Amino acid sequence: MSGGQRLLVRDLAQLVTAPPAAAPLRGAALRELQVVENAFVLCEGGTVAAAGPMRDLAIDAEVEELDGSGLCAIPGLVDCHTHPAFLGDRVEEFALRAGGASYEELHAAGGGILSTVRATRDGADGELAAAVRRHAEWMLRAGTTTFEGKSGYGLDRDTELASLEAVAAAGGVPTWLGAHAVPPEFGDADAYLDFALADVLPRASELAAAADVFVEEGAFSVPQARRYLTACREAGLALRLHGDQFNELGAVELAIELGARSIDHLEATGESGVRALAASDVAAVLLPASALFLDRPMPPARALADAGAAIVLATDFNPGSAFCESLPLVCALACTQLHLSPAEALVACTVNAAHVLGLAERRGRIAVGQDADLVLLDAPDWRYLTYHLGGDLISAVVRRGAVAWAR
Ligand code: NIG
Ligand code: FE
Repeated sequence: MSGGQRLLVRDLAQLVTAPPAAAPLRGAALRELQVVENAFVLCEGGTVAAAGPMRDLAIDAEVEELDGSGLCAIPGLVDCHTHPAFLGDRVEEFALRAGGASYEELHAAGGGILSTVRATRDGADGELAAAVRRHAEWMLRAGTTTFEGKSGYGLDRDTELASLEAVAAAGGVPTWLGAHAVPPEFGDADAYLDFALADVLPRASELAAAADVFVEEGAFSVPQARRYLTACREAGLALRLHGDQFNELGAVELAIELGARSIDHLEATGESGVRALAASDVAAVLLPASALFLDRPMPPARALADAGAAIVLATDFNPGSAFCESLPLVCALACTQLHLSPAEALVACTVNAAHVLGLAERRGRIAVGQDADLVLLDAPDWRYLTYHLGGDLISAVVRRGAVAWAR
């Protein structure tokens, strides 16, 4: 739908959104959703023109109508952590892991991330962009109306920049994950970073909104991550980190020291990391689909939320550690595995995720003036989002005021 066109979603069983907030919600505020029964949303020119109970609906002109009877509207989901820019798959590796091999062993043997790097570099012109479009379409069908997409499977100049361009072309928010792994043509991580910061960062910083680094044994150390992120911050990028996935190496302290937007994973984070994050402005991005997929411990989400941390949920969609684009499934895992409430789960993958991307003024809530992004659930209660495990519960997805996908 273009500019001035209008779409009225009417007779909704429930309309659910978080209250406005200048910063990510924390503590008790994570549970304070606004729920309107028998509701409507009026979209105009791509944004929400009005929303509320049906009795307040006043329409004076031609409008396209969508019948919301029996449906619940939640905000379009925001996936702030995905790796959609890859070619090939890791189904062989998946089968090996099912037989007992560990993700870290496969990584150390040159498989894992580096096998996807080989496949991605080998792609023909246009193949990577087509793959990212395909992955973005999967996300849309799962209710994601805003996605962040990382590079990190190129690790050479051309493939990294093509990855960032492909994410932007597919409507995503690009993050330069220039420090994901050390590619085989470099002897060590420092030599690779010399190249990445000198040859890739200048253009990557024009294409990306943020930079990310994988802090882990066999990937990048804390001093190497500090060097990479400091240069990226000087180039104007917001900062993200993959940290505490397998080992607690000090990534939480580094994220806080550098004023990062988020630290993501946290499966290995202990009590002092929880306390430090809770006292900071760094968001804790939890990726339970990744922990499930790798059969790893879940992150200490309940402790983080109770201590007052800004918690966020994302899929970590990627071919190796989380081949899963479904935020509804992640929300179900949040309740069953992370012991979050349905309200906390919804806030974590809508308004709080929008804050991580610096987009909360326009995305993550259903409110007048916000981008008109809605997911219509075929359910009598919005909490089916978390309750209907793996269910086919999305009836339609409205993005920027137009039906982008419908069953
Ligand atoms: O977030 N941990 C590092 N990176 C990705 C996995 C990438 C892969 O296995 O291809 C993650 O889990
Ligand atoms: Fe990731």
